[in-house]
Parts: sequence; structure tokens; C-alpha cells
Amino acid sequence: MNTEHQRLLIVDFGSQVTQLIARRLREVDVYCEIHPFNAVDDAFLDRFAPRAVILSGGPASVLDADAPLPPMKVYELGVPVLGICYGQQAMMHQLGGTVEKGHHREFGRAFVTPTAAHTSDRIFRGLFDSGKEEVWMSHGDRVTELAPGFTVIGTSRHAPNAIVTDEERNFFAVQFHPEVHHTPNGRKILQNFVRLAGFTGDWTMAAYKDEAIARIRAQVGDGKVICGLSGGVDSSVAAVLLHEAIGEQLTCVFVDHGLMRAGEAQEVVTLFRDHYNIPLIHADEADLFLGELRGITDPEQKRKTIGRLFIDVFQKHSDAIGGAAFLAQGTLYPDVIESVSFSGGPSVTIKSHHNVGGLPEKMGLKLVEPLRELFKDEVRELGRELGLDARFIGRHPFPGPGLAIRCPGEVTPEKLEILRRADAVFIDQIREHDLYDEIWQAFVALLPVRTVGVMGDARTYDYACALRAVTSVDGMTADYYPFSHEFLGETATRIINEVEGINRVTYDITSKPPGTIEWE
Ligand code: XMP
Repeated sequence: MNTEHQRLLIVDFGSQVTQLIARRLREVDVYCEIHPFNAVDDAFLDRFAPRAVILSGGPASVLDADAPLPPMKVYELGVPVLGICYGQQAMMHQLGGTVEKGHHREFGRAFVTPTAAHTSDRIFRGLFDSGKEEVWMSHGDRVTELAPGFTVIGTSRHAPNAIVTDEERNFFAVQFHPEVHHTPNGRKILQNFVRLAGFTGDWTMAAYKDEAIARIRAQVGDGKVICGLSGGVDSSVAAVLLHEAIGEQLTCVFVDHGLMRAGEAQEVVTLFRDHYNIPLIHADEADLFLGELRGITDPEQKRKTIGRLFIDVFQKHSDAIGGAAFLAQGTLYPDVIESVSFSGGPSVTIKSHHNVGGLPEKMGLKLVEPLRELFKDEVRELGRELGLDARFIGRHPFPGPGLAIRCPGEVTPEKLEILRRADAVFIDQIREHDLYDEIWQAFVALLPVRTVGVMGDARTYDYACALRAVTSVDGMTADYYPFSHEFLGETATRIINEVEGINRVTYDITSKPPGTIEWE
């Protein structure tokens, strides 16, 4: 828990969009943490000492016998409380109101209009300018009788108590979701809420940088730290922050598996070793990885082989520096948030992501995770604070197993070379058209098929490739990017002209789900 800032507590009841509440609040410089309802008890509330509490939505019904509820103490802290959707029902139910099964389930877009009682604009300042507000509803049950002290200030067709408030106690409850994009003015509600709770917006990356540096120094003392550097934004920001905190006590290991993009390995080495003077081991292990990958075509086997070798190589080189006590990782807040599971069953493994998990125990290392309170956009902001090169900060994510998973079928040096050149042309096109920052991730996948073509007067029999470009917020879901036909045509022509070995270009228009971003 971060104790240096004013804190807001989000109690999670398992809504799919709880993380968005936190993101909206972080955007207005408010520090908040999400905790599952079953981890929040009286002792936790005393320790956390929130300045305000938000109760999230969730799939349960307060009418169920074992309904998840926050401790009553939430309402006795004397701080503002906002209930959202299920959070509203929980609040009404606990404070003496009535919730019933809804006769009309209400999903999707709805319009809320103010009631005559809507006189104070403390929480709804800037709303209802046009007489009604578009909101996103998703609920079955609804509140039929308000808890004592509450008044209705907004209604919708199927939710007569869409917005209720108890101004005296600073309790607010909405039946819709203000955190989602489909509630266009929702962020104003959240902003008004934190303002009336007295948050001063003290959560900035400039302040965080200094605190993080002090904390790293306190944790590490004069111990040595090793850090796996991939060239991605998270590990790069972690490395520069650590270097600022502990200087030469940090050594970075860049495991070059020969599956990087064109010029990438050199770029990482030059930036960190020459520009930042960070001690960096460039472990050039392309032969090892490509040798072990020979003959492997199964995607999971590829991933597992790369993951295993990566750990071996990392360990070999970190042993060589001797005596490291800490391993630094660029873990982010979304990896840390404990999710509320109602099914209780194990989730299926879609892909085995590779990381250095398991290493700390094996090597007896303690973890340093200076980014574990941050969302990705905050990491980028911190990178800017640290003066990290803009090219690194804005980079598209690149998967640990590298080009191996963009080369379905067997990975060979020849195929990798073709893929690297095609990928470089595609990214160049995207940059030329000024589209790079609009796209979450873009790359070429080299397909394991050869097709017949004609170039000049000659027959060709070369590989086909697929372009992939998606928009996304967090990589969990994604949409294909709507390039113009001109752009696609021009890119295809350039790839076929400039890259020997490819004679056909396709564009992958699958969203996630049902596809995944990478091909393997
Ligand atoms: P998928 O293909 O699962 O990818 O839709 C979602 C995001 O995760 C990245 N990705 C990885 N990142 N190690 C990583 O560090 C991995 O093993 C890995 N596999 C996929 C992918 O590039 C996309 O951004």
C-alpha cells in the first residue's frame, strides 16, 4: 500500500469494468487501490484509512443469501462513499432500503433525467446541461425503496432510482456505470466525487519518481540488483529508475535470443550502455535459441522452449556478476490486482507467456518491483519524467518470445530474415503515414505457405505474409486497425518489391476475441 498519498479505496465486487474506475481516478491524479470485497474488513479499513470509498459493480444479487457485502464500517468512517450499480444496491440494502428483482432487465444505453429534488450540484456539477445524460446500464435487480436519508435526483425509464444521494452523509449511488466510455459524462461524476472528498490531486509521476527512488534505496541498501532488459517500455523505465536510485549497483542483462526485429538489439545496447552508462550484459545467444527451436512447429512448445532457455541464460549471466541479492522486474498494477472470482474454477491457458517467474526462488533473490503501483500510461509518464528517449516510451509492445511467434511453423534464420525486412517496411509505412501512435501494436506474420506469383515475366513461388495492426487499451481485447485501401495497397506493393521471398500480402481483420493479437 502506498502511504505517502491521499488514498481512495475501490471495493471490488467482480465487475468486468472495475479497473476502469481506477484508471479514471488516476487520470485526475488521485491515488486509488482496488481490493476484493472479501479482503476488506474493519482492520483493513483502519490500516488503509481511505479518504473516500467506491463500491464497484458486480454480477451478484444482494437478494442472494450469501451476497457479497462490504463491512458496515465503510459507512461509519465519516468519508464520502459512492456506490456503482451492484454497489448502489449493496448500499441501499445495508442502510435500510429495499432491492427487488427487476421486472425489466436494463442493459446498454439509457437516458437519465434529473428530478425536481436535483438542487445541489456538488456531485453532478456539469451534468444535465442538455436536460438528460446518456449512461450505460447493466443490471437486473433494482432499488425500489430508498434507505432513510436518501433522495432521488435522477431517473431513467427502467431505473426510477438511477441516481440517489444523501448529501448530509456524503453518500452517493448510481445505478449505471460512470467509469465506462459509453457514459460520456461519467468521468465528471467521478471527478466531482473526489473533489468533494477533498483530494488535492497529489498523485503525479514527478512526485512518484522521487518517492520511488527513496524507497528503492531503502529496500536495496548497498546490495546488487540485476534486471532483465527486453527493450520494452516497462523494463526500460524500471532500469532507468533503478539506475537513478542506485547507480552502479544495478546490472542489466539483455538476453538476445536472435528473435528481435531489425536493428533492435543494437538499439537497446547502444541506448542503455552508451547513452545511460548502465552496466549492461549483452548475452548474444542467437545460436543457442535457434538451434533448440529447430524442428519445433507447435506454438506452446516454442514458447516453453524459449522460456526455459531464457531463464538458463539469464541465470548464467547473473551468476557471472556474482552476489546479486535482488532481481528487478517491471511488474505493473494490473498484474497485481487480485481479481474476484465467482466461478472458482481454473481458467484455461490460452498461451504460456514467458517471463522470469520462478527465478527469484531458484536463485534466492528478493524482488524489486518499482512499477507495481502503476498503470501502463503512468509508466510512460514516469519514463518522460526520467527523460527516457521518446522512441522507447511510445514503443508498441513486443512479446518476450519475439519473432518466433510471428513465424508459424518452423523458425529458421532464412524465414526470420524475410520477416524482419517485411516488418521493417510495414512499420516504416505506418510511421510515414503518422499512424504509429494511433495503433496499439503492428507487425508482420510470415505465413508457412508459398504461393505462385508473377513478377516481370517470371513466375515466383514465395512466402505469403499477413499484416497485423490493432487498437487496444490493455491488450486484453483488440480491434483491427481500419487502414485505408490506399495504405494497404501501397504497403503490399512496397513489401513485394523490397523484400525478396514474399510475393503475397494479406491483411488480418480479426478482432480479439475471437482471435488473439499474436498469431501463436
Ligand atoms: P495475445 O496474442 O495473447 O497478446 O492477444 C496480448 C499482448 O501480449 C503480448 N504477448 C506477450 N508479451 N510475453 C510478453 O511479454 C509473451 O510471451 C507474450 N505473448 C503475447 C502480445 O504482443 C500482445 O501485446
